[in-house]
Amino acid sequence: MTHERSPFAPDPATRPDMTDILRGRRMRRNRRADWSRRLVRETTLTVDDLIWPLFLIDGDKLRQPVEAMPGVERLSVDEAVRDAEKAAKLGIPAIALFPYTQPERRDETGSEALNPDNLVCATARAIKKEVPNLGIIIDVALDPYTSHGHDGILHGETIVNDESVEQLILQALIEAEAGADVIAPSDMMDGRIGAIRQALDAKGFTDVQIMSYAAKYASCFYGPFRDAVGTSKTLIGDKRTYQMDPANGDEALREAELDIDEGADMIMVKPGLPYLDILWRLKQAFAVPTYAYQTSGEYAMIRAAEQNGWIDGERAMMESLASFKRAGADGVLTYFAPFVAERLKR
Ligand code: PBG
Repeated sequence: MTHERSPFAPDPATRPDMTDILRGRRMRRNRRADWSRRLVRETTLTVDDLIWPLFLIDGDKLRQPVEAMPGVERLSVDEAVRDAEKAAKLGIPAIALFPYTQPERRDETGSEALNPDNLVCATARAIKKEVPNLGIIIDVALDPYTSHGHDGILHGETIVNDESVEQLILQALIEAEAGADVIAPSDMMDGRIGAIRQALDAKGFTDVQIMSYAAKYASCFYGPFRDAVGTSKTLIGDKRTYQMDPANGDEALREAELDIDEGADMIMVKPGLPYLDILWRLKQAFAVPTYAYQTSGEYAMIRAAEQNGWIDGERAMMESLASFKRAGADGVLTYFAPFVAERLKR
């Protein structure tokens, strides 16, 4: 037989004594059957972990596909109410609203953000009326409203911090007035959490929560989102003077510490999967409600690979979300939310 001539032919002298080596330490025992795997499972993804981001657009009975995000659409107010009803029916605790602002309503300072009847505010009011028990989260940042696509106010080539914060405070108040349960500052200006908390309290919105984008990185994974809200073509330069350097981890601890100190009720890490180490560190360090944002780019990658037949999309969805739970997340903002909720029901 040929294998006898092989240098790797079985040799009784080198046959391992597995009983001796393992001495009872067989990790596979717990994995051998489904009931046992369920019994030793450390984390579980439930519908209570999901926050569903919705894109909004002017119009009536309009559902407009977002090209790079198969399965995601921009919704007119009436259709957003419909999806809010769907969210409630599925048991999803909260939605997050993001507007596509018509180009003619964008300007240098993002003044449309201060229009009490702007798209997010109108939608929040409509949803609160029809689905009062669904949590509504609204971003605070000027990028959907500025002609240059930045989250703050631009003077020359500089995003000016303190003046931007003044504008963000007014935006937060208008959103709270419209019915936002949670204000989510995503702008990364310094001091905005404290300033917004103070203003909300002064105006009687003491119960409005703040979810801070505490560690938000200057990332390429926001690409499809910027298409969805129409800022990818308008954005001048990049956001590296206010969003974090992807190379940094300790800095995220400082950012989160400041936001918690200034009054954040919940903190978020964004993007998600490439920053699981940050999520883990923040949850370990502060033990406050901590969320991950599975960004548009992460969603697009899974969908694209699925459409090419290169990956099992549904399993990738479930596995990626399980990893957030394992890393310590209390919940995840994800465009997969309705798909996961339906999957969990089966
Ligand atoms: C706005 C904002 C962005 C996202 C959430 N809020 C984009 C950005 O900062 O450029 C990204 C969400 C996603 O990619 O899914 N400041």
